[in-house]
Amino acid sequence: MKKIIERINEEMIKAFTKAGYDAEFAKATLSNRPDLCEYQCNGAMAAAKRYKKAPILIANDVVSALSQSNVFSEVNAVNPGFINLRLHPEFLASYLRAMQADENLSVEKVKNPKTIMIDYGGANVAKPLHVGHLRSAIIGESIKRMGRFLGHHMIGDVHLGDWGLQMGLIITELKKRQPDLVYFDETYEGEYPKEAPFTISELEEIYPTANAYAKEHPEFKEEAMHATYLLQKGSRGYVALWHHILEVSIADLKKNYSNLDVTFDLWKKESDAQPYIPEMVQYMKDNGYAHLDDGALVVDVKEETDTKEIPPCMILKSDGASLYNTTDLATIVERMKLFHPDEIIYVVDKRQELYFTQVFRCARKTKLVEEDTELKFLGFGTMNGKDGKPFKTRDGGVMRLERLLSEINEEMYKKIIENHEIDPDEARKTAEIVALSAIKYGDLSNQASKDYIFDVDRFTSFEGNTGPYILYTIVRIKSILNRYQGLGKKLGEEIIGIPWNESEKAMMLEIVKFNQVMETAYEELAPHKICSYIYDLANAFNRFYHETKILSEEDEKKRAGWIQLLVLTKDVLENCIQVLGFSSPERM
Ligand code: ARG
Repeated sequence: MKKIIERINEEMIKAFTKAGYDAEFAKATLSNRPDLCEYQCNGAMAAAKRYKKAPILIANDVVSALSQSNVFSEVNAVNPGFINLRLHPEFLASYLRAMQADENLSVEKVKNPKTIMIDYGGANVAKPLHVGHLRSAIIGESIKRMGRFLGHHMIGDVHLGDWGLQMGLIITELKKRQPDLVYFDETYEGEYPKEAPFTISELEEIYPTANAYAKEHPEFKEEAMHATYLLQKGSRGYVALWHHILEVSIADLKKNYSNLDVTFDLWKKESDAQPYIPEMVQYMKDNGYAHLDDGALVVDVKEETDTKEIPPCMILKSDGASLYNTTDLATIVERMKLFHPDEIIYVVDKRQELYFTQVFRCARKTKLVEEDTELKFLGFGTMNGKDGKPFKTRDGGVMRLERLLSEINEEMYKKIIENHEIDPDEARKTAEIVALSAIKYGDLSNQASKDYIFDVDRFTSFEGNTGPYILYTIVRIKSILNRYQGLGKKLGEEIIGIPWNESEKAMMLEIVKFNQVMETAYEELAPHKICSYIYDLANAFNRFYHETKILSEEDEKKRAGWIQLLVLTKDVLENCIQVLGFSSPERM
């Protein structure tokens, strides 16, 4: 369905042309003076130069040409040459009806769907999931859903970190604690046990302990590095242990992500790219892309236009070991081979921006991707505590995601049972839904690249620009619709009518922006634009609600029209929150 602004511009083009002016000047925008008009066109000002004529005269001509318009109810030329526009109530109502009848609520599916891989989540196996990885999961999930909503073929990949030193550290620590485990017996040739020799809580304790110990004891670190090397070389016992670590850890990660309503199409890991490395390295050497620098194999990626130093991309260390770089490049090879994406989007901490610049340049230069394959980096800022420092627990430790979630669930639960009488089980379930909206909206309503302060009190508030406020609004609409049905009425018996008052029109003017917002938000990879849209829409609805006695309206036709408008408002809001990654309860 055409966007409202497109419909408006078509009307303006007709008018400019009819009045004898070029269509290029006929461009309207949302008004920046909502007290005076809803849309405005400044084209007469620009046209004045071309036609050597006072802008106000041109504006007057256009206004006359619009006298019969059924798009606008009011058109004014004001000095020095602005054209102020108000939409015709019938035009607006019919646009809303068309939206309601459209299966995608006016949002057009893209004509040429792309295959887009999105690399997000990025948790590291065997390390507890902490808030550092929260943003990637929340933002990535939303971008994936946005793209899908528009009709792209989105493939989400968690790209777990499973190949680094953390593995060697865990193996070495285990060896220290339980040297008799069969995995450490080099002469052993039988099958290894099915059960892991540790639980998830042990595993999560082992890594930080080993990591701290390695910092103090270089010989331990040395050993861990060697263990990592042996693992990567394929040592049987170590590989078996590594499988246990993956299994235990991934089961736990799946649970955590599922609590966040984050789902991945692919559970790929860094290690999955390893088989592609030897051939890729050979190819880079053979084609003269890579050269030796101090024993290490590198690809130069600096460009003449660089204003800051972009160091070469290191492919292999001097001892032949591969790096994070190598894995990411080989992952690109793998992705091209298996999925042939038109685009890959990485949702990663913005501190890795330089790193991704190197990787992207290297992938392009060495032609691992096609010329038109887009590689995008969506870097996000840090989630800080109220003290402005990276978010920590009260005692200063790294905040585990599970703990954060349960604290916020608890907070929400308290609020909900304070609010009204409710069955404790239902309150628990509702609390989880609302808590998730608090966390996700709190994150997504900020521009991704900026740092933000995770303020539990503010995020969980039912008032202000928060997830719970949005849900509260949706629940309010649901409750009106339920009560209406409770009167023995059916939904959908009447169509949306013309607005009866200012607040109703204001709300309608918000609703019609939906398709534009969805498109722009996706193009700019900017979920915060959806948040600010639903915040405006929720405010517009609440104003209308406070000024209008909906259910007690005696004119049944009018009342039924309002009900239809509410159904549409709810559908728009629900589609938006679904794309943001959360849902609404029935009551709260
Ligand atoms: N595991 C990485 C980390 O914790 C994030 C992975 C991001 N994705 C990638 N393809 N490098 O920093």
